[in-house]
Amino acid sequence: MLFSSAEGRSRMAGVGRQSLGLYVMRIVMIGAGYVGLVSGTCLSDFGHEVVCVELDEGRVTGLREGRVPIYEPGLSELVIANQRAGRLSFTTSLKEAARGAQAIFIAVGTPSLAEVGSADLRYVHDAARAVARVVEDFTVVVVKSTVPIGACDEVERIIAEGAPRDRFAVASNPEFLREGAAIEDFKQPDRVVIGVEDHRAREVMREIYQPISRAGAPIVYTSRRSAEMIKYAANVFLAMKVTFINEIADLCERVDADVLDVSRGVGLDDRIGAKFLNPGPGFGGSCFPKDTLALTKLATEAKAPIRLVETLVEVNEKRKVAMARKVVAACGGSVAGKRISVLGLTYKPKTDDMRDAPSLVIVPELQASGARIVAYDPEGMRSAQSLLPGVEFANSAYACLAGADAAVVITEWDEFRALDLDRVRAALTKPVVVDLRNIYPIGTMKALGFQYFCVGRGPAAEAVGMDLVDS
Ligand SMILES: NC(=O)c1ccc[n+]([C@@H]2O[C@H](COP(=O)([O-])OP(=O)(O)OC[C@H]3O[C@@H](n4cnc5c(N)ncnc54)[C@H](O)[C@@H]3O)[C@@H](O)[C@H]2O)c1
Repeated sequence: MLFSSAEGRSRMAGVGRQSLGLYVMRIVMIGAGYVGLVSGTCLSDFGHEVVCVELDEGRVTGLREGRVPIYEPGLSELVIANQRAGRLSFTTSLKEAARGAQAIFIAVGTPSLAEVGSADLRYVHDAARAVARVVEDFTVVVVKSTVPIGACDEVERIIAEGAPRDRFAVASNPEFLREGAAIEDFKQPDRVVIGVEDHRAREVMREIYQPISRAGAPIVYTSRRSAEMIKYAANVFLAMKVTFINEIADLCERVDADVLDVSRGVGLDDRIGAKFLNPGPGFGGSCFPKDTLALTKLATEAKAPIRLVETLVEVNEKRKVAMARKVVAACGGSVAGKRISVLGLTYKPKTDDMRDAPSLVIVPELQASGARIVAYDPEGMRSAQSLLPGVEFANSAYACLAGADAAVVITEWDEFRALDLDRVRAALTKPVVVDLRNIYPIGTMKALGFQYFCVGRGPAAEAVGMDLVDS
């Protein structure tokens, strides 16, 4: 059905009041984790009324008092401001929150099912069962969690067991934000993907994302299954780019080329793009590892195995172990009894997220080889403590480096780029630096007397003044 105006469309969808050109929607966000909290907060910042429902009572109490449980630049300020403005609230009660809501988003975790690797949908299904108990008027149930293809159909089936079908419609709205840049990514996305097959639900989604579409971001409407597939395909493609440049980096080391020049020269091709072409210790984090694995399982079950993705999962796992071996080799073939300083534990900078971080493989591998590990991370140490037994945690980078036989950079926090290298040299017992993120200039490191090992930069990389673009 077509509607002649936004007002007409919104009325048809049972949408709320108008304020400054925006139809203010009452939105429930189930799950106040990285995605739910950022999405809910940003939607409230656009002017919508958002209630975040979270199982963890401590988290709800903290958020009500303005304490944000995750490290995400700019998020605390937005949470506090929008709560003060009365547009954002937190509760453990879905029943209370759902009263009068036009949309209920499901933004709960979908971790890997242990041993199997496919996405564990138990939290999504629990949320769907809870939704079935509270929908009264027509409500759009929006699956924001990353779920395998067909999961929205299952959510619809579960809700229909407890609620009449004319009271709800299920839409897929995968999220593409990056931790560390989550607010910007949510508010100014490259695109918003909405999988929707019900015209009323489509109008509600259109109104919710009106502030983003008005700012020029494309809204891609698809079937629910295509939307689910887009999320996996996008994540897997990015993971593939990372794995590709990692393997090119290994080859560069063998053939005496410099992966930084190669990556720049390749990435300037518009068809390829420069992003995700930085070599490192292998991808980690809350999405790529589980999503690549889930897609391989899904594809195998659908009898259309994707060999490329199977291989990249395997290559990435091996890479983390290979990075530990690189450290051992840099230390002369043995780390037994040596004190190794690890700078950076989170899977990337500007987050405190430790999920599937490469450090969780590299550090235990070094410990198993007899190393004593002292580590420092600007934001990740609280969550790292229970994940990395036997590690000594330092309260600054310099304290971490003091008396160590070697330093290993695992995460490229800006703080590490800015270290006084003379002071680093003086702190270390032996001047060995293994830089798994290529954050220091080779020439400077050598000039300062470091034994400097980085990723994908053969001896020729020491030659200065080479610039692919200018030459
Ligand atoms: N983290 C990212 O960068 C990112 C980016 C894009 C997509 N995703 C996807 O978004 C989803 C959520 O990821 P996340 O990183 O935010 O997870 P998370 O673990 O940080 O947050 C999930 C939250 O949901 C809560 N929860 C679970 N069941 C609940 C229920 N029934 N009612 C209320 N609260 C409930 C948990 O207590 C937790 O706080 C996943 O599918 C993930 O793949 C994550």
